[in-house]
Amino acid sequence: MTPKNITKRRFLKMTSGVFLGTLVSPAFSLGNFRPLEIENVLIGQFDLPPLPYSYGALEPYIDEETMRIHHTKHHAGYTKKLNTALESLTTFQDLSIEEILGKVTSDEKEEKLRQNGGGYFNHSLFWKIMSPQGGGQPDGLVSDKINEAFGSYENFISEFKAAAGSVFGSGWAWLCKNEEGKLFITTTANQDSPLMIHIVDEPGTPIMGIDVWEHAYYLNYQNKRADYIDSFFQIINWGQVSENLMKA
Ligand SMILES: [Fe+2]
Repeated sequence: MTPKNITKRRFLKMTSGVFLGTLVSPAFSLGNFRPLEIENVLIGQFDLPPLPYSYGALEPYIDEETMRIHHTKHHAGYTKKLNTALESLTTFQDLSIEEILGKVTSDEKEEKLRQNGGGYFNHSLFWKIMSPQGGGQPDGLVSDKINEAFGSYENFISEFKAAAGSVFGSGWAWLCKNEEGKLFITTTANQDSPLMIHIVDEPGTPIMGIDVWEHAYYLNYQNKRADYIDSFFQIINWGQVSENLMKA
């Protein structure tokens, strides 16, 4: 936890509901903020990160309404429930989200933390690896690592699309780096993350991933998940993937 957050948590404990009540009061000018987002900001350790572009910026590949609902309802919901789950799990408090995911187990008591911590992290990564200026092919180290692991960019795309298409029900497909520094493709169910070393079969550090929950594409693509996956590669932000690889 950063000093900023410590200050915030202590401040919130001291002021409890009085301050929140003042902020959500109709007499208080909320501007463009929504109460749900304000609630996230005010209560707990984690804040809902803003999108790095406007809700309509990824059109025509991902429509504005889908992005707005996905961010303000789904991601906001995971953030809020993550904060709630942490209230009763003291050994997880004050850790980074990466540390939380690396520690969480399949124990029933940690179920909400697993679901919502994963949802919080996965979406935070997902927004950043898309961009209105995205698309094209990777270069530099990402390109080298992809060629090393899959033989060619074309092979990688083919394998990644097949993996994303094969997820049964809700989940994610990922490009990850393993402990030896090699890239690999994996999938996770629901909101599990490759960072969950006590839960997933193939742990690794995700550097890129696609949300294949229906909430990510159904308004525009209905049952055509393959078309949505094709569109994702028109807006993929390889620069951010490269940054993720450097940090992994
Ligand atoms: Fe999602």
